[in-house]
Amino acid sequence: MRKHNFLDDVVHKSRLYMGVVKAQTHKKMVPVVANLYVTGRCNATCTYCYVEINKKPKREFSLQQWKKLVDDLYVKGTRLFALVGGEPLLYPKIDELAEHIISKNVYLNLATNGFLLDKHLEIARMADEVSISLDGDLASHNLNRGNRNFERTMKGIDTAIEAGCKVRLCTVVTRHNADMIDYLVDFAEERNIFVTFTPLIDAPDLRKDASEQLRLSDEEIREFFLKLKEVKKKSSRIINSFANMDYMINYPVQYGEVIWKNSPHADYYPHPCPYGRFQFLISSVGEIFPCGIMWNNDYFEPKNVLDVGLDEALEHASQGLKCQSCSFANSVDWNNVTSLPWLWYGVKMTVKQSFGKRKIPVLSEVS
Ligand SMILES: C[S@@+](CC[C@H](N)C(=O)[O-])C[C@H]1O[C@@H](n2cnc3c(N)ncnc32)[C@H](O)[C@@H]1O
Ligand code: SF4
Repeated sequence: MRKHNFLDDVVHKSRLYMGVVKAQTHKKMVPVVANLYVTGRCNATCTYCYVEINKKPKREFSLQQWKKLVDDLYVKGTRLFALVGGEPLLYPKIDELAEHIISKNVYLNLATNGFLLDKHLEIARMADEVSISLDGDLASHNLNRGNRNFERTMKGIDTAIEAGCKVRLCTVVTRHNADMIDYLVDFAEERNIFVTFTPLIDAPDLRKDASEQLRLSDEEIREFFLKLKEVKKKSSRIINSFANMDYMINYPVQYGEVIWKNSPHADYYPHPCPYGRFQFLISSVGEIFPCGIMWNNDYFEPKNVLDVGLDEALEHASQGLKCQSCSFANSVDWNNVTSLPWLWYGVKMTVKQSFGKRKIPVLSEVS
């Protein structure tokens, strides 16, 4: 399979932008972004993981079922498919599924811990973006994500960069890595890659206590985003927008708490949330959720595509939601993705990703 090139980038991003514009201008729901949680299995045990990993699922989707769903979603307007999990590279037919998505000429994001990237380089090279989770240096990353995780992830990052993949780091902010901004930005700068910082969202019951131990206090989260803002003024490597950071800094209730439509703070962010409007999450057994926040609690009871069909399961995830906004600030960036500052940032990032130079060779080139 050939490598993803600059023209693919331009075509896929343009189709995605057009999809979002269409969704924004039409009042009805369009599933422009579909996050496919292809498996619940994982080869890591991150303390905070919001997915119920390694719980035996009743009926995980087959390749044929995923392909059919991809076809149906494409017809409905999906222009970005994200392969997520669990660890998506553990899904037995991940290469075939990714190739099926690639054949649609749409944006493909592969979200991975990186451990198995060397065995799936063909699809990683064709993906528009390979999001790899990195939480900081060896000590902080492993405190968040388990012993020996760092070495395996670093090998994945190196392998992907060396193969010419477009890598983005995804960092979950906790007590153990709140001081890792400079490390991660330098790391990204040296390798000509980018990084997104995400606050913790709720983990399922099994991991709730351990995950809560990692949560920063409200004061510390505010300080973190104030610092991030300062660093972003000097480095273009941070993908979170200033609006995203301001949203976090001024969040009017406790972080983690959802702002409901009938709450006194409902006007804090009056814009409609993109999740459940043009973004959806589809679990490995075919349930459709608006977002990850609605996953591990009794806020939302999903419908399953196998029981009621795609239309009804999507409609169900887009209607009757009582939330107005939450501390998962990604929604701010998705709402602004077609604004001029974002378009300009997108152009600069695309050019840098394709033509920018690394300051240091990756490890495998050194050894
Ligand atoms: C669920 S993972 C699946 C993909 C892959 N296994 C990985 O770790 O990158 C997708 C992303 O969610 C992040 N994540 C996991 N648990 C989280 C939580 N409680 N809050 C915020 N992000 C979380 C991960 O770090 C990763 O960047
Ligand atoms: S965050 Fe990713 S790597 Fe970690 S346990 Fe969850 S699914 Fe696995």
